Amino acid sequence: MRIEFDRIKRLPPYIFAEVNELKAKLRAEGKDIIDFGMGNPDMATPRHIKDKLKETVEKPGTGRYSTSKGIPGLRKAQAAYYQRRFNVDLDPENEIVVTLGSKEGLANLAQAITSPGDIILSPNPSYPIHPYGFIIAGASLRHLPAMDQGIFNAALYLERLEKSIKESVPAPVALIVSFPSNPTAQIVSLEFYKDLVKIALKYNVYILSDLAYAEIYYDGFPPPSILEIPRAKEVAVEFTSMSKTYAMAGWRIGFAVGNQKLINALIRIKSYLDYGAFTPVQVAAAAALNGPQDCVLDIRNTYQKRRDVLIKSMLRAGWDIPTPQASMFAWAPLPDKFKKRGSLEFAKELMLKADVAVAPGVAFGEYGEGFVRVGLVENEQRIKQAAKNIKKLLL
Ligand SMILES: Cc1ncc(COP(=O)(O)O)c(C=O)c1O
Repeated sequence: MRIEFDRIKRLPPYIFAEVNELKAKLRAEGKDIIDFGMGNPDMATPRHIKDKLKETVEKPGTGRYSTSKGIPGLRKAQAAYYQRRFNVDLDPENEIVVTLGSKEGLANLAQAITSPGDIILSPNPSYPIHPYGFIIAGASLRHLPAMDQGIFNAALYLERLEKSIKESVPAPVALIVSFPSNPTAQIVSLEFYKDLVKIALKYNVYILSDLAYAEIYYDGFPPPSILEIPRAKEVAVEFTSMSKTYAMAGWRIGFAVGNQKLINALIRIKSYLDYGAFTPVQVAAAAALNGPQDCVLDIRNTYQKRRDVLIKSMLRAGWDIPTPQASMFAWAPLPDKFKKRGSLEFAKELMLKADVAVAPGVAFGEYGEGFVRVGLVENEQRIKQAAKNIKKLLL
């Protein structure tokens, strides 16, 4: 009997495993750990969205299998969102698919388009499903360093990208980008996407853009969509999510939109794998997109205030963290005293000596070493408390 499975062997223990184990142990001992380690929104889903869910659950037929590609009303609501937010036209029939969160969409698109040995270009550090969705699907990964001394250098990245495309044998099938970035909180301009689309068109490479943090941005600068670039639909799909925008992470609902070939491939594979999200969840998601948007502003403002408190209080504690412009994370260089010990050791030390959990940068890829990711998922009071604890450690 086979006891080792090839796909499973290619998956290292999940990134947070070691840190999580320590966290669970300390909590079991009664420690109150201030947890910046996960990207799990802690705010409540807005009332009117929950009400819509409840109301729909009571309607006849809503417990039946739903539609795998998403109910028409929700696909139309997503088209209207892209129109008002990005001025991008989408055909709800052929250019939009509802996913069970963007993570599911990314993973199943990887399954849909990958043949064994295909080359995929993935940023490093990155959100784990970007590389691992394709590793599970049997692809070979080329990792592109995404950062230079703590910042994303678009010109350098594009240069590396083009070189990597030219050197890849066979030619790469797709490349992944994700801005605002998890874990690095970096953002890009429309100009970057223009150059990226140009390269993709030149070399016939698909672009998968993950825009999970489309609405989590600060200081009034909304991130662009790659689909704003003329001809982008010839090569690109984009993933968005209800998880962060409306604090609906547990509801598992998101979207892929754009290139018809890719969207149809995803629709096709999903038609074999799932029956779509629970209908009341889809109806409530449509209500979220079509309804009042002040809740999005509230959520954004909450993260922004936390960001400001985090950056200020950590600076006072002796830890200089660059101010993120978007996402729900800060990408923090290790304090000098800990630079040599690496991000995993620093994360453990923070937990043991300051009761604070963060995610070690190396867990997002080897080029993430030297940094930790701090999630804005604790309230202002607890952020200040964490800074006090950390100050003692840094003295
Ligand atoms: C960049 C990025 N993409 C996708 C996801 C997953 O989102 P969803 O809840 O829509 O699956 C996350 C979640 O943290 C993320 O950070």
